[in-house]
Amino acid sequence: MNKINAIITGVAGYVPDYVLNNEELSRMVDTNDEWITARTGIKERRILTEEGLGTSYMARKAAKLLLEKTGVDPDSVDAVIVATTTPDYVHPSTASIVLGKLGLKNAFAFDFSAACCGFMYAFDVAANMIQSGRHKRIIVIGADKMSAITDYKDRATCALFGDGAGAVMVEGTEEEGIGLMDSYHRTDGKGLPFLHIKAGGSVCPSSQFTVDHRLHYTYQEGRTVFKYAVTAMADDCKLVAEKNNLTADDIDYVVSHQANLRIIEAVAKRVGVPMDKVLVNIQRYGNTSAACMPLVLWDFESKLKKGDTMMFTAFAAGFAHGALYYKWAYDGATAATKK
Ligand code: UT7
Repeated sequence: MNKINAIITGVAGYVPDYVLNNEELSRMVDTNDEWITARTGIKERRILTEEGLGTSYMARKAAKLLLEKTGVDPDSVDAVIVATTTPDYVHPSTASIVLGKLGLKNAFAFDFSAACCGFMYAFDVAANMIQSGRHKRIIVIGADKMSAITDYKDRATCALFGDGAGAVMVEGTEEEGIGLMDSYHRTDGKGLPFLHIKAGGSVCPSSQFTVDHRLHYTYQEGRTVFKYAVTAMADDCKLVAEKNNLTADDIDYVVSHQANLRIIEAVAKRVGVPMDKVLVNIQRYGNTSAACMPLVLWDFESKLKKGDTMMFTAFAAGFAHGALYYKWAYDGATAATKK
């Protein structure tokens, strides 16, 4: 029997209907379309405005579409992993809520916390679960309602984030030359002061004080994060490429975290990959944290061909970062028509 490798056999996504564009933002804080576009590349982002709906709502929508598109029997799904930094509740897991709403009977579910690296790391973990032979089918979701942790009085952060969810089906194959080939992930704990939410966790539980001082929103020292992100993502991609004897020309697509178009361009330049090989949708969604990567795959699925060489890379609070070498496993053009 050949070695089992893990492949993505389908992708789906969901973004809320409400579009918050730069023009509307500029009426909320002291900013303008020119600054946001030039510094970030973002033109608009989606916001889940309906009261009482959280991350699991978007995750479930993406997963439901995924099941429809792939035709997978829900009873054959072994696990649901939701990568998120904005869970519905502290507990239970958002994944357990998604599983319940989808009516999965033979699966277990858990959340995965690695902020913007969440999807890439969770996919790697799911792939290892598949490679072990003990699991056959896993739904990996990246979903975040970033509007819930964004301060719309802080112009330095409120233009950056948006809401959304993306989901992939991960299954096994014995076919050689497709699937997860290699990865390199690292986390540098010294990132804490530069990107975090000050209150609401066990160090500083919620109180009147924390609410009054707006401590439940994302705090970021943008320039420090920017510099670290460019260096780490580019170095990670180069390391994985070298280790696998890949030249920049061998890479068909870079699937990058979508935090800032300038970061993506700087990483592509350092890796030596032209921008037409980099999949970018930040203009429309902003930074949806764990949802960025699966939303990119969903948006560009129709372009992807079996055997395409892809380099995933992300950077996150932590500072977590990494790169993943993947060979696409199916004809995206046919699958994408089932949107
Ligand atoms: O996904 C997790 C990882 N996160 C990231 O990768 C984000 C990394 N950081 C960034 O993307 C960028 O640092 C930002 C987009 C957050 C900021 O861009 P920047 O080019 O680094 O700007 P800056 O923070 O250096 O600010 C430049 C100026 C400042 O004014 P002064 O001090 O030069 O007078 C800011 O106050 O721009 C000002 N500014 C704004 N002006 C208009 C900051 N935000 C805004 C705004 N509109 N929205």
